[in-house]
Amino acid sequence: MLMAETIRFKRDGGSLAADAIRTLIRAYSAGEIPDYQMAALLMAVYFRGLDDAELAAWASAMLHSGEVVDLASVPGAKVDKHSTGGVGDKISIPLAPLVAACGVRVPMISGRGLGHTGGTLDKLESIPGFRTDLSVERFVRGVAEVGTCMIGQTEALVPADRRMYALRDVTGTVESIPLISASIMSKKLAEGISGLVLDVKVGSGAFMKTPERARELARTMVGIGNRNGVRTVAFLTDMSQPVGWAVGNALEIAESVEVLRGCGPADTTALVESLGGAMLVLGGVAATLADGEARIREAIRSGAGLDRFRAMVSFQGGDPRVADDPSLLPAAASRRDVPAPSAGWVTSVDCERVGIAALVIGGGRRRKEDSIAPAVGLRIRARIGARVDAGQPLATIEFNDPAHVEHAAALVAAAYGIGPEPPATGPLVLETIGL
Ligand code: URA
Repeated sequence: MLMAETIRFKRDGGSLAADAIRTLIRAYSAGEIPDYQMAALLMAVYFRGLDDAELAAWASAMLHSGEVVDLASVPGAKVDKHSTGGVGDKISIPLAPLVAACGVRVPMISGRGLGHTGGTLDKLESIPGFRTDLSVERFVRGVAEVGTCMIGQTEALVPADRRMYALRDVTGTVESIPLISASIMSKKLAEGISGLVLDVKVGSGAFMKTPERARELARTMVGIGNRNGVRTVAFLTDMSQPVGWAVGNALEIAESVEVLRGCGPADTTALVESLGGAMLVLGGVAATLADGEARIREAIRSGAGLDRFRAMVSFQGGDPRVADDPSLLPAAASRRDVPAPSAGWVTSVDCERVGIAALVIGGGRRRKEDSIAPAVGLRIRARIGARVDAGQPLATIEFNDPAHVEHAAALVAAAYGIGPEPPATGPLVLETIGL
């Protein structure tokens, strides 16, 4: 089929043959299909979905668009974690070194910012010198020597996701259960892991706004993982407000260091403990989730996780002194508070708007070619359930270029709901699947 025919066929609700999917993903990875045609096909998939056979073929074609890492030479359990994307979601950064410090290796292939959400790679690259584009050989060495290594998709590893991820970011084709599942699971299955913990975000800052959609996404990914021999569990976690206090690349590295030092925000630390605890269970180091959580807490208390973070940063070419001196991270030139319009209780946060505010000041990309401003972002000053006075800052915008700051401030102001009564607050972990 010509690509234009394939697009029309999918647009009209057809089911693509496995062969056709393999061919088109191979051709796209090789640069033989232009972005405009792939964007049109992705939009057709967004509206029409993929059936089970199409999804299996799509995920497998993405996985086999590059190499699969062979970690057989590295002793011990290898377990990873991946989030479906959130605002202020820096969990992987303190989590991977903590889990490694507890004796389970973490080979991690991550992504960049996607839509209104931030990406682990962009955050890590705000550390001066830090490289995420390592060769497969160096990645394997990092996992063996440091216990964890965090890289991106490359021309050798899941190149199909490398290209498609960047395209989906700027073409309104992110929020699709089959496309998210194939993107995440192709990266994770390429890592040579035996266990995987998925953090499926639910709420205003997530791609899945309702528990029903999040559950469907979680079950789809857990199914793909288990069918491919990787024991996979999922946590559905609350994303109705930013994770922690920092939204923005360098700001989130500073907050990750705070978590490793034992003085991080309560929600961020609790998520690190729960997801890390589950990773230790899958890695055979902890007998129960509670045991795993206790081991993560001890790795924070003893400083073992922070030591592992320093070692990882060093191994990947970054300046490990950021673990002791956050002033070595890039800092924005100016600040602008967003005041509460009236007194009351913070009842809700439209977290997607907060993510877009960070994007418009340069923390994310409008077009594929855009570069990121690592220093910019937001400090959240009032969370759901906080009592605020009129004029009290809800958030502070940290920016370099004043051009878009008023737009960002309007987005943040519109994101906050303030009411006369304290709201009921829900749990951080809504449910687990497969644990
Ligand atoms: N994370 C990914 O790696 N891919 C997606 O599509 C969404 C979140």
